[in-house]
Amino acid sequence: MTSVHQDIDSVLFDEDTIVEGIERVAAAITERFEGGDLTVVSILKGSCIFASDLIRRIPIPLELAFVSASSYGDRTTSGDLEISFFPTGEIEGRRLLLVDDILDTGKTMNRLKAEFLERGAAEVATCVFLDKPSRRSVDLDADFRVHEVDDLFVVGYGLDFAGRYRNLPYVGVLKPEIYASASGSDMSVPSAS
Ligand code: IMP
Ligand code: MG
Repeated sequence: MTSVHQDIDSVLFDEDTIVEGIERVAAAITERFEGGDLTVVSILKGSCIFASDLIRRIPIPLELAFVSASSYGDRTTSGDLEISFFPTGEIEGRRLLLVDDILDTGKTMNRLKAEFLERGAAEVATCVFLDKPSRRSVDLDADFRVHEVDDLFVVGYGLDFAGRYRNLPYVGVLKPEIYASASGSDMSVPSAS
């Protein structure tokens, strides 16, 4: 059997560490949004696993929405952002929590935050599973984050490389030969959504 596990070089966050971190962040979110009008907006595809684990630990009433965003252009940078779907439900007057898998340059979150504020959200807070502060190119910090990572390309728990590895239950680093073999030259430092 071919398994995604065999391509992993090392595990950065195991399942227990992930759950502990999510419980801590869920408690902080619950406290901040007590009182209502919360809509959690999961940014697809990367945050789907994180968002579904997160909302089940937030006991206050909330709505769930999805938006799809991907960067294109040069693979080593976040190129222009393509927003291919906006939630059709009400945004106006709602308190939004934008949820993404990882905050890298910050361009995705920054752009989406501005778009939702323009569409009349009362408030837009941000929550990320992983934060790579060393890569930031815009002035944005997440209001809530589960774990910080160094400038490494990681996969698992929703995060992909070339569309794969989202189903790993932990976060890990791929064996170097996987990046090399997937590529040609342009994928050695991947960073696409
Ligand atoms: P940003 O706009 O540069 O902050 O890019 C964020 C997006 O880049 C994330 O939603 C991910 O899809 C992708 N990304 C950045 N770093 C990684 C990584 O280490 N592994 C997998 N995807 C990543
Ligand atoms: Mg993404």
